Amino acid sequence: MIRINEHYLKLQASYLFSDIAKRVAAFQKANPGKDVIKLGIGDVTRPLPAACIQAFHKAVDEMAAAATFRGYGPEQGYDFLREKIAKDDFQARGADIAADEIFVSDGAKCDNGNLQEIFATDITVAIPDPVYPVYLDTNVMAGRTGGFADGRYAGVVYMDCTRDTGFIPELPRKKVDLIYLCFPNNPTGGTITKPQLKQWVDYARGNKAIILFDAAYETFIRDDRLPHSIFEIEGAREVAIEFRSFSKQAGFTGTRCAYTVVPKACTAFTAAGEPRPVHALWHRRHTTKFNGVSYPVQRAAEAVYSPEGRAQCRELIDYYLRNAALIRKEMTALGYECIGGENSPYIWVDGKTDSWKFFDLLLEKANVVCTPGVGFGRCGAGFIRISAFNDHEKVQAAIERIRKTLTVA
Ligand code: MLT
Repeated sequence: MIRINEHYLKLQASYLFSDIAKRVAAFQKANPGKDVIKLGIGDVTRPLPAACIQAFHKAVDEMAAAATFRGYGPEQGYDFLREKIAKDDFQARGADIAADEIFVSDGAKCDNGNLQEIFATDITVAIPDPVYPVYLDTNVMAGRTGGFADGRYAGVVYMDCTRDTGFIPELPRKKVDLIYLCFPNNPTGGTITKPQLKQWVDYARGNKAIILFDAAYETFIRDDRLPHSIFEIEGAREVAIEFRSFSKQAGFTGTRCAYTVVPKACTAFTAAGEPRPVHALWHRRHTTKFNGVSYPVQRAAEAVYSPEGRAQCRELIDYYLRNAALIRKEMTALGYECIGGENSPYIWVDGKTDSWKFFDLLLEKANVVCTPGVGFGRCGAGFIRISAFNDHEKVQAAIERIRKTLTVA
């Protein structure tokens, strides 16, 4: 008899963003005339930078000629891209990362979700609350948790991110093995300073733990004092893995390109306590289960590092940051406490009421989609997340509608 992985039965009925999409689709079906503005899922709306498009076209043309055609590429990514990443994203910031420590992939979500499989199933995992649901759900699927009750899975060490903690996690009091951190944070938009991040690196070193550091939103950092990478912190090479993405940085959500940094010094242990480099394990996994990102997409990603690409990406991010600043300013003026929206595309708003109730109010009365904070965890109850990813005119219109709705409500 074929049997299922019963850990899947512990999961909530559907993935947060699928659930929201279904609710919005039902609303649109019932109200066909209404123009709904989406500030829910963090999906970009602006076109790819011109430098990326140009490189993309050129690479597609290369695929059309026998002399320049390419079949399977290296699973870890082409050297032309890995070398630029290592030099520009890390070495230029004083972070000691080499090209062969970069694994190019089709998405940070996939890498974030897949990486846990190289670790034992009986380790202790520390996860912030609220959190990007992928970290939690993939550990549930792998069987690292017990059942779900009262908004939490048994066996997980939750790190509450509340007003009391400044909306960032505090070091666990209990010893943990695998730690998920995300900065600038999704969903709260919170940031971390170098001294704060150093405490995490020291904790991991002291406890033989590993930090999975999600830096998918680093490109939104405008405050020069904030670290862009965990590898700017001394000692992190031995205890951290970092995820990056071209999705938000260069509008690649539909194009698909990201990368994961696994330093060769990063070590995990066998049950007998023998150290093993995780780079070799991830390399083995990646080459077995993944066949590389397409050549034209990697050429398009490479163009991000050209002088034109760099300027165009900066302009793109400035565009969304302008939206974020407007949302934060207006929601604050309406009397709602806001976190994020600076160095981040997300604004975490204390809605002072049930998250889903606030979501429904904005959808039904303002025809604006946000994300209910409680969907990111129990500590998100009462909050909503507003995303700055949309065209500026739409964000202005959404804010105007929200103002009218909340002033009347
Ligand atoms: C989000 O809205 O949290 C992100 O778009 C999700 C993602 O990048 O997968």
